[in-house]
Amino acid sequence: MQITYHGHSCFLVENEGYRVLLDPFLSGNALAVADPGEIQVDAILLTHGHSDHIVDAEEIARKNDCVIIANYEIASYYASKGLKTFAMNIGGSAKFEWGTVKYTLAFHSSSIEVEPGKFVDGGQPGGILLTMGGKTFYHAGDTALFGDMKLYGEMYNIDVAALPIGDVFTMGPDEAVLAATWLRAKKYIPTHYNTFDAIKQDASEWIQKLKQAYQEGVRLAPGETLDV
Ligand code: NI
Ligand code: MN
Repeated sequence: MQITYHGHSCFLVENEGYRVLLDPFLSGNALAVADPGEIQVDAILLTHGHSDHIVDAEEIARKNDCVIIANYEIASYYASKGLKTFAMNIGGSAKFEWGTVKYTLAFHSSSIEVEPGKFVDGGQPGGILLTMGGKTFYHAGDTALFGDMKLYGEMYNIDVAALPIGDVFTMGPDEAVLAATWLRAKKYIPTHYNTFDAIKQDASEWIQKLKQAYQEGVRLAPGETLDV
């Protein structure tokens, strides 16, 4: 499995020629280096409906003629625009030719802003456990710290976990260190930081804190890939 970070909460996960994109936010992200018009994918996974997670989903889905996998409300929203969708909900898993997706809890909100200040229901926000080629990537989505992360650590064999550290809208760095001690993943990638002034964090400092808690952190710059 190859995990490429595309800034904020966006990742491209590849295995045996299949390419799955999570939470595309490339246009409008000054830190992103990939062009949404050129990215090639087999499926798009969305954790929730906020624009900093879905803004390029429609364009990329149309260009690639690929499925958008999301909660029922977000999937229905894209289905109404004529796109291919696959609806799921919290606690459910589904198999695809490239791997397995399980929707996990996230404590956040999820509405879709269809015009400035006007929102439609984006269902419940989630996290994603993506298994491809026997390796599991946990994308926590936007979330507060929650105790069931301990349960996920007991139940699932997580190879790499992407955790938000930006604070303000999600858990902050110290809670993310605690989450890491619960999830028992082999490696942690910090996400959802530095994109905007409000979520400025020092990722190197966070990785040091992880080390003190006997956890391994990997800081990826946008465009960088981790081989798992
Ligand atoms: Ni959000
Ligand atoms: Mn967000």
